[in-house]
Amino acid sequence: MSDEAAAWKTIDEKLADLLIEADPALDGVREQALSIGLPDHGISAGQGRLLEVLARAAGAGRILEIGTFAGYSTIWLARALPFRGRLLTLELDPARAELARRNLEAAGVGGRVEVRVGDALAALDALIAAGEEPFDLVFIDADKERNPEYLERVLELTCPGATIVADNVIRAGAVFDPEIEDPELDAAGHEGLRRFLELLGTDPRLDAAAFQTVGEKGHDGFAIAVVRRPDGSTPALP
Ligand code: DHB
Ligand code: MG
Repeated sequence: MSDEAAAWKTIDEKLADLLIEADPALDGVREQALSIGLPDHGISAGQGRLLEVLARAAGAGRILEIGTFAGYSTIWLARALPFRGRLLTLELDPARAELARRNLEAAGVGGRVEVRVGDALAALDALIAAGEEPFDLVFIDADKERNPEYLERVLELTCPGATIVADNVIRAGAVFDPEIEDPELDAAGHEGLRRFLELLGTDPRLDAAAFQTVGEKGHDGFAIAVVRRPDGSTPALP
C-alpha cells in the first residue's frame, strides 16, 4: 500500500471513530466473508453510513439492491427503512445469499429483507413483468459490465423522485484509462461502468452526480442519481 493510500485508510478509520458507533453485527459480516474466502468487496463503514443517510433523506420505504454479496451494505440500507419498510436484494450465488441471510438475521433486520437468488437481470425482468410496486431507492453493486442493463430495468421499476446509487464507478481511474491497473475488473467491467456513466449523463429521465472516494477501499467512486419527471420538473415535497 502506498503512503498516500495508508493515509486515506487512517483518515477513514478516524472518521468512522468519530461518526459511527461500534457494531458487532456489521464487523461480523466482514469477518464471516473473509473466513469463507470471499474477497473484501464490501463497502466501507463510511460508505455504509452514506447509504443509510441517503435512504433516510429520500424517505425510502421500498429499497432494491442489485448484488447482495455478504449483506454488509444490505444491513446499512435495511436499518434506514421506516416501520413496515421492505428491502429486496438480488444475489447470483446461493452460498453468498445464505451467508447474507444469516448476517441479516444476526443484525436484526432479517424480517424486512428478502434475499432473492438468481440472475439479477432475469429477476428484474420478472419484477417488471409482474408489475412490482416501484422502489424508492436502488443500490447497484453487482457485475459492473451489466450496469447499463441494470439501469434500464431500474428505470422501469422506479418513479420520479426515486434515488439510484451505484458503487465502484471510478476504479482508481481505470474506468477512463486502460493503462491503469485494476486487479479485479476486466475491460468489459470498465466499459460497462463508462457506458453507465454516459447513460446517467444523457438519459433525460435522470439527474446524476458522480464523485471520487478515497479511503480504506482505495480510490473509487459513487454515482447518485434521481429520477426526473417526464417534463423535467421536480416532484413536490411530501
Ligand atoms: C471490488 C470492490 C467492490 O465494491 C465491488 O463491488 C467489486 C469489486 C474490488 O475491490 O475489487
Ligand atoms: Mg462495490
